[in-house]
Amino acid sequence: MSLAVFDDVSLHFGKKTIVDELDLRLGNDDRIGLIGPNGSGKTSLLRMLAGEQAPDGGRVHLRGGLRLGYLPQDIELSGNKPLLEHVVSSVQGRDGLEASVREAEAELARAQEQAAEASDEARAALDERMMEIAEQLSDLHERTAHYEMHYTEHEATRILAGLGFATSDLTRPLTEFSGGWKMRAVLASLLFQQPDLLLLDEPTNHLDMPSVAWLSAFLKAFDRAFILICHDREFLNEQIRRVISFEPEGVRQYTGNYEKYLEQRAEEEVILENKAKNLAREREQAERFINRFRAQANKAKAVQSRIKALAKMESVELYQKRKVMRFRFPPCARCGAEAITLRSVGKAYDDLQVLSGVDLAVRRGEKIGIIRVNGAGKTTLLRMMAGEIPVSSGEIELGHNVKAGYYAQHHADTLHPDDTIYDTVYREDEDSSITRVRTILGAFLFSDDDVDKKVGVLSGGERARVALAKLLINPGNLLMMDEPTNHLDLASSEALAESLESYDGTLIFVSHNRAFVRRLATKIWNVADGSVETYPGTLDEYMDSYTKREDGQPAAASETASADEDAGTPAARKRGSRAEEKARKRAEAEARNARKSVGKLEREVAKLESAIEALEATQKERSDQLADPDVYADKARSGELITAFKDGQAELEKLQGRWERALTELEAANAEQ
Ligand SMILES: Nc1ncnc2c1ncn2[C@@H]1O[C@H](COP(=O)(O)OP(=O)(O)OP(=O)(O)O)[C@@H](O)[C@H]1O
Ligand SMILES: [Mg+2]
Repeated sequence: MSLAVFDDVSLHFGKKTIVDELDLRLGNDDRIGLIGPNGSGKTSLLRMLAGEQAPDGGRVHLRGGLRLGYLPQDIELSGNKPLLEHVVSSVQGRDGLEASVREAEAELARAQEQAAEASDEARAALDERMMEIAEQLSDLHERTAHYEMHYTEHEATRILAGLGFATSDLTRPLTEFSGGWKMRAVLASLLFQQPDLLLLDEPTNHLDMPSVAWLSAFLKAFDRAFILICHDREFLNEQIRRVISFEPEGVRQYTGNYEKYLEQRAEEEVILENKAKNLAREREQAERFINRFRAQANKAKAVQSRIKALAKMESVELYQKRKVMRFRFPPCARCGAEAITLRSVGKAYDDLQVLSGVDLAVRRGEKIGIIRVNGAGKTTLLRMMAGEIPVSSGEIELGHNVKAGYYAQHHADTLHPDDTIYDTVYREDEDSSITRVRTILGAFLFSDDDVDKKVGVLSGGERARVALAKLLINPGNLLMMDEPTNHLDLASSEALAESLESYDGTLIFVSHNRAFVRRLATKIWNVADGSVETYPGTLDEYMDSYTKREDGQPAAASETASADEDAGTPAARKRGSRAEEKARKRAEAEARNARKSVGKLEREVAKLESAIEALEATQKERSDQLADPDVYADKARSGELITAFKDGQAELEKLQGRWERALTELEAANAEQ
């Protein structure tokens, strides 16, 4: 029995066909990757499954009682429950169950009271009613026990810890979390509900590197069906066994992972090309025959048969090439040597101090990657620098002749859903001619009627392209970009990296996309514990030094933000650049050495893996014990067990972080070889 069936389903938006007479079956343990470029219809297909979008033809059937978990691409979270409670109560029917138990108990009490004063006759009826309620109650208790056994609080805690929440977060109300963390809370609830079919629309967009590693492990162990949309090729490839793909010729299905899909697609293409070549040759021969013998009466029959054959000859449509966005930033107006300077900058939200005492100086032409290793503060930092939010203390100064441009993480922050694409971009530079606006929009793949579409109906990737076009029409010489590759398909991410590579202004960007940071950043900032650590080198060099520090050795080439304190003076700058140069060389040498030792890294990865496995087994035992209600009879013992479990989780996180870094290094070392 299939989980879900698409039966002759069609969906159109205006002139655009999303799916046409689609038949699709989803099996019980299907692990599906849903792929296709931005705007092809991936989200719309998930919305049809989730019942949020009705098809215009055909039907989507779901198996009766199917539990569906849907993580949308853009999340709106409501409610103000504390985090853990939110996750635990997210299981469907659980809240209702508790209410039903209370209701039944009250009714039983009422019946008992009435029975005490009732006549014999009335009593018999009441007794019968009481029996009914008692049976109902026992059934309700059984169902509650089922929930308690399968949906335990510490399973919820385990999932939340895996997604990076600290123990102190568990009791914080949901509204206090930032956008990225809210999305994790939603993801945690979904994973906790153990749905039969999980629909994940770009889940890695808001996760940092350790959480991506955690989600990857979680999904690997997930034994029910899921559909995953994800522009991170590696992540996708590891998880899926089947591909549903939006191709120019329609929705296609393939077995195997993403790599297998690419192979099959390439083979199909070769076969089609050969077929087309053969047909062209046959056609040409037939035409030649006809032309040569047309006038000869004794060949009339043969000529006729060839004319017929020609008319019947099928034509082969080759796969269409996809359009890719392509643009270049114009040369920038020159600015002062220092593009932006931060002095003792601090930021607090109410009583939560996010950043304090940040001193930074960014020089003209630098490309700074702010990486997401550990959560908080990056978006805040970027938004303060872009002047989107005020500082709580200290000051930020733009250099001479600096014009800043800002690209927000959530496009909803800067785009208005009711504006058209054209107006959104035109408004940024009202001196532009219609032709210029249209040319820029064309580079971002919006042509003809597209430009009159409202921003509100666009797909995630299309909205990102509008935001980019808006930035490009009047780019400035200091760009600050928050997660610019989120929502972009692979080809668009690459096009963006390419144009930023040749951008001659100053760039500061936050990204968790390793390939992107690796390609662009000449300097790394790590925002952690309320301050900013700067590192004068590439991501790989930074990772090397980071791993060394974990092992207890000092980082060879890291400088803290405070070292930039007097960076404003020419002498300091010179000192800084000499020190940077030296540090960079040392880091490069270290990176070379590190890369040589593939064997060593392999051993380290294997060692960490077995340590993680062993600890996971121990944690599983602890968690099983904690699920046993008898444990709580002995307070001291349960207390000990809880502490051990929590410590174990923290240790596990640490190990996973180290494993991830070792693996990254190993991949880099392998690639180098
Ligand atoms: N309500 C709507 N009205 C008009 N057009 C719509 C509507 N919803 C979606 N579209 C269009 O349908 C197309 C498919 O959108 P969808 O969100 O499914 O794409 P996607 O494959 O998920 O893209 P992305 O990778 O960018 O998230 C897009 O061109 C989008 O603009
Ligand atoms: Mg989408």
